[in-house]
Amino acid sequence: MKKLLYVTANPKGIEKSKGLKIGEAFLEAVQEECKNIEINRIDLFNYEFPQMDADLVSARGKLAGYGYSLDQLSTPEREKISKMHALANEFITYDSYVFVSPMWNFNSPAVLKAYIDNLFISGKTFVHTANGPKGLLTDKKAIHIQTRGGKYIGTPMQELESGDRYLKIALCFLGIKVYDTVVAEGFDLNPLKTPEILKQGIINARIAAKQFANELIQI
Ligand SMILES: Cc1cc2nc3c(=O)[nH]c(=O)nc-3n(C[C@H](O)[C@H](O)[C@H](O)COP(=O)(O)O)c2cc1C
Repeated sequence: MKKLLYVTANPKGIEKSKGLKIGEAFLEAVQEECKNIEINRIDLFNYEFPQMDADLVSARGKLAGYGYSLDQLSTPEREKISKMHALANEFITYDSYVFVSPMWNFNSPAVLKAYIDNLFISGKTFVHTANGPKGLLTDKKAIHIQTRGGKYIGTPMQELESGDRYLKIALCFLGIKVYDTVVAEGFDLNPLKTPEILKQGIINARIAAKQFANELIQI
């Protein structure tokens, strides 16, 4: 049985979001290829998770930097870092991850970065070695489905894209080297073209899903 975590960062809901529609098509196609799969969902706009606030930053520093034990932390620090570790422990149990987010101001919605912040735990998801940091989440696959209002691919705007780039950097740092992206872009340039761009996005997602599922079976 393979496990897939489907993480969405879009408050619009599936009726209004093109990305969420493309994401569902992706999941459907994965399930057609890989029958023996458990899928769990996290909708980051309706999900409570630790934020990197003063308590969490302090707890992180005390545990990692100063060798404190959990019982030496304040109650809020202990509660928040325990939730952060629980989130990371759960994340680690998956073989594969699908992230769906729109481009917002060249990046992803902030909730996605806030969620990813919970995964960086030295000794759990990465370690420091004599040769530099090493990700521990190996043998896992991730894909990012990103919708964009403008056009970036093959244009001077390409360099401004920071959401997909960041997600790839973060997950690769943690050891998830197999990373793909499905992009559907140009939605806001001409609303009449929305159905066409959406249709192509769904086709691309289904193609990517087949490959994703086949690689997943081999993990
Ligand atoms: C707050 C906000 C910021 C946005 N910033 C960008 C941007 O920097 N570049 C871009 O191409 N589109 C931007 N857009 C447009 C969306 O990326 C675009 O409408 C996309 O198709 C939304 O996908 P969805 O239907 O899945 O939500 C922005 C939209 C919102 C709401």
